[in-house]
Amino acid sequence: MSDLATFIRSLPKAELHVHLEGCITPEQLVAIGRRNGVDLFESVAAARAAYEVSSLEDFLKIFAKASKVLLHADDFAEVASTYFDNAAADGVRHVELMFDPQAHTPRGVALETVLEGLARAQRDASGNGLSVMFIANFMRERDEEEALELLASLAAYRSHIVAIGIDSAESGHPPRKFTRLFQKARAMGLKCVAHAGFEGPAKDIEEAIDLLKVDRVDHGNRVYEVPELARRLGDAGTAVTVCPCAEAQLGVVASLAEHPVRRMLADGMRASLHSDDPAWFGAITENYIALARAGALTRSEVLQLVRNSFTTSFLPASSLRHHLEELKAQAEGG
Ligand code: ADE
Ligand code: ZN
Repeated sequence: MSDLATFIRSLPKAELHVHLEGCITPEQLVAIGRRNGVDLFESVAAARAAYEVSSLEDFLKIFAKASKVLLHADDFAEVASTYFDNAAADGVRHVELMFDPQAHTPRGVALETVLEGLARAQRDASGNGLSVMFIANFMRERDEEEALELLASLAAYRSHIVAIGIDSAESGHPPRKFTRLFQKARAMGLKCVAHAGFEGPAKDIEEAIDLLKVDRVDHGNRVYEVPELARRLGDAGTAVTVCPCAEAQLGVVASLAEHPVRRMLADGMRASLHSDDPAWFGAITENYIALARAGALTRSEVLQLVRNSFTTSFLPASSLRHHLEELKAQAEGG
């Protein structure tokens, strides 16, 4: 197993499912909060205790609370840059970072402030050899009208944004609610992703594919509840970004050992592993190693997952070729 962990650490990877707000560490929550006069927790220990969650509902509450400390461009830049530095040290070469504009704009934080901070962190990361793109996610519990207005405002930052997605509370908020939003986004040339089949039903995955026409499904862990749908995704080689530690900790898969990801690979889905919210659920490498420790990954599955992380990314063909060559050389030498 330690051999497999060393192999995992040595490989270049792409991170396609990570939330900016999920990168706020308990230390940053307290330090940035104090600096901004948003004192949510008295100590790092208290913040750390509040990060212990076991359901999506509780997680989303603390996620929204933590987001409140971000007020200025410097705050967004600091959280993103710290994450980028850690990811690069973890072997990540390319990041598609999700952020939730609606975690900020209703609090009076301008979109311009958010994007100024993110763009600064992106520039610094590229100086360190890490490529970064951004995905604007819309919260499923909020209405489509608000999302459409926000999408229109995001047009001013089009060059920074590669895709849109949906996330947050799934139950009672099916993907079909956002059909017009995704139609408009595609007309703008944006790629599309959607959290689906995490706590909400497998039918949400079908809607995300058929109505939102997504390029990737985020999570998708409930797909096997409808065998016909799983067969369809396997035959189509659908891209699925899986976050095993978040899924196990929030109780939407029975355990790491029983995670459906190897079945997804065997059936032809282009699954890859990601961190989701590293401050809560660990970095990308920890997600690979946790599954491997649970006896749920072989060396060839690791390679396939890592390869999929590049081939299902939104990287242009020339960069993709470069990353796949590096991966091949590393895998053969390691
Ligand atoms: N926001 C951050 N992480 C999320 C997740 N796993 N599901 C829904 N919304 C999220
Ligand atoms: Zn997520």
